[in-house]
Amino acid sequence: MRAVRVALLTFAALISVTVSAAESVFPLQEMTPDLDDKASLQRGARTYMNYCLGCHSLKYQRYERTANDLGIPHDLILEHLVFDPDTRIGGLIENSMSEESAKVWFGAVPPDLTLYTSLKGGPDYIYTYLKSFYSDPDRPFGMNNQVFENVGMPHVLLDLQGIQKKVCENDSCSLELTVGSGSQTAEEYDQTVYDLSNFLYYISEPTRQERERLGVYVLLFLAFFFVFTYLLGREYTKEFH
Ligand code: HEC
Repeated sequence: MRAVRVALLTFAALISVTVSAAESVFPLQEMTPDLDDKASLQRGARTYMNYCLGCHSLKYQRYERTANDLGIPHDLILEHLVFDPDTRIGGLIENSMSEESAKVWFGAVPPDLTLYTSLKGGPDYIYTYLKSFYSDPDRPFGMNNQVFENVGMPHVLLDLQGIQKKVCENDSCSLELTVGSGSQTAEEYDQTVYDLSNFLYYISEPTRQERERLGVYVLLFLAFFFVFTYLLGREYTKEFH
């Protein structure tokens, strides 16, 4: 019985992997995160607090840790990036949107994004997603998204990017930007979205750099330890005939 159950569970896990892989068939644009680029992470944090936090919390992380990791002084983050006067530096990065209201307004609840790039989308996904909104009069907010068809989220960076139109020839479609319709140039917008994706990559695992640094020492230790284990083993086996 036990074996059957294990087999069934494995099968179910395999199916769910296939299904979630099928969700992201749209070709993603690559972005290479750089956690050493503190300026990029700081800009990403600023964009996030200004444009995303109202709907998407980061409730598994605290302001204090973010400020320390990104090298932002506590008084500056409280003054410029924390909009609720009751929030303290040790507080979680939350918002006050209720799930019921969100459902009424957008037809879907905006998910918490703390672990998003680790569990669901990956930095490439966020990067491509934020560059893939296009105008579509049939949608409630007049915008649709190529990566996430019929998404409930409005294009909140529209003022920065400007309007993209979907142009289709034969079977392939591409997005064309109406130049000058946004306050940023295409390069500036790419940078904004890069920084934002970089920041979300950081926040999904704030200890990533620490883990990778420690990993090297652990491997070095194991290599060093191996020499002695090997010598000791040889000493013991000398007595076997
Ligand atoms: C006005 C509210 C609102 C704001 C502001 C907002 N979003 Fe969203 N977002 C939503 C809603 C609602 C959904 C769920 C859409 C759906 O499931 O159809 C969503 C979905 C998403 C998803 C896809 C989640 C999934 O299920 O895969 C990502 C990624 C995302 N948002 C990122 C962002 C980022 C980054 C920002 C800031 C630039 C942002 N959002 C700002 C409302 C918002």
